[in-house]
Amino acid sequence: MGRRRPRRQIRRPPRRPPRPHPRPAPHRRHRHRRLPAREDLPVTTARPPIRLDRNESPIPWERLEYLRLDPETIRRYPDDAPLARAFAEDLNLHPDFILPTNGGDEAIALALEHLVPDGGRIAIPVPTFSTFEVVCDRLPRTLLRIPCAQDGAFPEKHLLDLCAQEQPEAVVLIDPNNPTGTPVPSGLPRLIRAAAPKTLIILDRAYADFARLDNDAELLAADDRLVIIRSLSKSPGVAGLRIGALIGDSETIAPAWESRLIFSVNSAAVALGVEALRDTEARRRCVDAADAARPILLDALRNLGVPALAGPTNFVLARFGVAAADIVRNCAQQGLLLRDLSACPVFPGAVRITLAEPDTLRAALDILQPVAARALNRSTATEKSPAQ
Ligand SMILES: Cc1ncc(COP(=O)(O)O)c(C=O)c1O
Repeated sequence: MGRRRPRRQIRRPPRRPPRPHPRPAPHRRHRHRRLPAREDLPVTTARPPIRLDRNESPIPWERLEYLRLDPETIRRYPDDAPLARAFAEDLNLHPDFILPTNGGDEAIALALEHLVPDGGRIAIPVPTFSTFEVVCDRLPRTLLRIPCAQDGAFPEKHLLDLCAQEQPEAVVLIDPNNPTGTPVPSGLPRLIRAAAPKTLIILDRAYADFARLDNDAELLAADDRLVIIRSLSKSPGVAGLRIGALIGDSETIAPAWESRLIFSVNSAAVALGVEALRDTEARRRCVDAADAARPILLDALRNLGVPALAGPTNFVLARFGVAAADIVRNCAQQGLLLRDLSACPVFPGAVRITLAEPDTLRAALDILQPVAARALNRSTATEKSPAQ
């Protein structure tokens, strides 16, 4: 038997006093944060909330037969070429023009990050879709915000003057605009091009079906510094699948192609997206549902004495004034979610309301009308009361 080795002494490091909790890193604050997407919603009712805060399709998606997927589709990494072809077919373009993306959001991020240079200035009519502001906040880009008119009209003259004087690296136009619903005047891209020959024009057409806009090919043929963003979240009604596209001349969008994650659109989204794009009947039903719901909601708002902006989209911008945030909060507590834009500097006190099919809209109005009437009465009473 060998000699027992002396036990090695393990030297413990001297005990350190416990560290104080590290300070949380300061959060970057965004002026236009989206509402919480998951379960942290301010809803206290037992039934699921009525979501009229995210501009989803006004009608349920019914094509369950599309959900039957070939198992090989699941086993293999995705190939988004069929989706590019379906977009191309729908818009009468060559598939080389189409970069399929994980929703319109990814198309926006790719365009702002890879088609606009660092330090680039981006002219944008406001109010606008929050993703443009959130993405630009994180990048070395400067937004040149141009307020829309009080009737929601695009600030055409101001925008053209700015383009002529500043020659910004990019201009963003949303057609029709979110949240005002206003369509872009049809000759505006051409006028911008004349004023600023090199400026990239980013034309977001997420809501194009509602406005029956289908001249994408014509616009792209006339201008190789114009790119279009499309989404299948709105009229094709498949927001959960996350499908969009960045569309443009292949040389113009090449930097986005080179930088994208190649599998960002998954196989189920490719297969179902092709069907959703081709299903023109379902898309038309969705547009018709929005057209039918719009006057009902506008009527209800008029009865409350609330002015509103509404265009050919699936939402309405209601101007509740000082009572807006209160109304959104109280509706949420009763199970109706609306998009609070009350801090919007151009339209203070605004709330965006998504249109819905009749039963849902009726249930929503049953909550909104009494809540709004009470809050509006309270705010009028406060305004009338003598200053303390
Ligand atoms: C103007 C605009 N562009 C793009 C998007 C993003 O759409 P997606 O759901 O495809 O990311 C939205 C969504 O609300 C939008 O309003």
